[in-house]
Amino acid sequence: MLIVPGPASKELAARVATKLPAPVCPVDSKYFPDGESYVRIAGEVRGDKVAIIQSTYPPQDKHLIELFALLSAAKDMGAKFAIAVVPYLAYARQDKRFEEGEPITARTILQMIETAGADCLITVNVHKEDSLRWLKIPYHNVCCMGAMGNYLRQLNPRIPLVLAPDRGALELAQRMAKTMDAESNFLEKTRNRETGNVMTVEKDLGVKGRDVVIVDDVISTGSSVSNAAKICKRQGAAKTLVACAHALLANSSRERLKEAGVDSIVGTDTIPSDLSRVTVSDLIAEVLRKYV
Ligand code: R5P
Repeated sequence: MLIVPGPASKELAARVATKLPAPVCPVDSKYFPDGESYVRIAGEVRGDKVAIIQSTYPPQDKHLIELFALLSAAKDMGAKFAIAVVPYLAYARQDKRFEEGEPITARTILQMIETAGADCLITVNVHKEDSLRWLKIPYHNVCCMGAMGNYLRQLNPRIPLVLAPDRGALELAQRMAKTMDAESNFLEKTRNRETGNVMTVEKDLGVKGRDVVIVDDVISTGSSVSNAAKICKRQGAAKTLVACAHALLANSSRERLKEAGVDSIVGTDTIPSDLSRVTVSDLIAEVLRKYV
């Protein structure tokens, strides 16, 4: 198997290649002066299985086009099996028609990945695993909550509570709590679809003097986790940590989290940044080994 690093995930691809282990196939990439993307697989892939690793964090549309182009190039050059490794799958949250006239963008993206030539998809904590049912190819939704829980456990949190900022994240919180040997709980949240404003209902969490880990799949504006953090602080929590699979952290979300009293943010390398404290490379390598 060859690892083909997409421009968005060069470091993660190198980690996966080392752990598998597998050789890395060089890729050239650039933007044309008009903004169009260029990629080139600069190695031999004929007759090989390839794993194209390309996360689709912002700029999502450019990263998606690069993914489609690499899949298409690999198949044109004779790769016998192409695995699309898309650690953060953009548009996954538009997984239904919330309002009449809207597209189901998650479905369209998955169909495009398949049409571009993917024979299999590997992703990490996709917003809702059920949305992957639109694929006709095999898929794997890897969960990084155990890896994050192991990291957080080493920080020796004080009588930790793992808190989901909404009901949808409760399963993630439970998985992380299991690894940390901690309790879990959740809050009720509603989002106004027009304004994007998030409302969270306060309830007694019993967090006085305890450390809280607020966990979500994605942090975008930071509204969901900052509402939860404010509730924890009001109720006397000691430290408030935030952990998420995909730290998009749009606009001024870091400041919002700071103002809400968040002490630290832990992310993964699905989106490379100074917050990527946990790597998903072992989890991806483990799935890829099934295809070697
Ligand atoms: C939504 O259900 C997701 O799981 C996240 O809770 C949401 O995307 C986080 O967005 P924000 O950071 O803008 O509140």
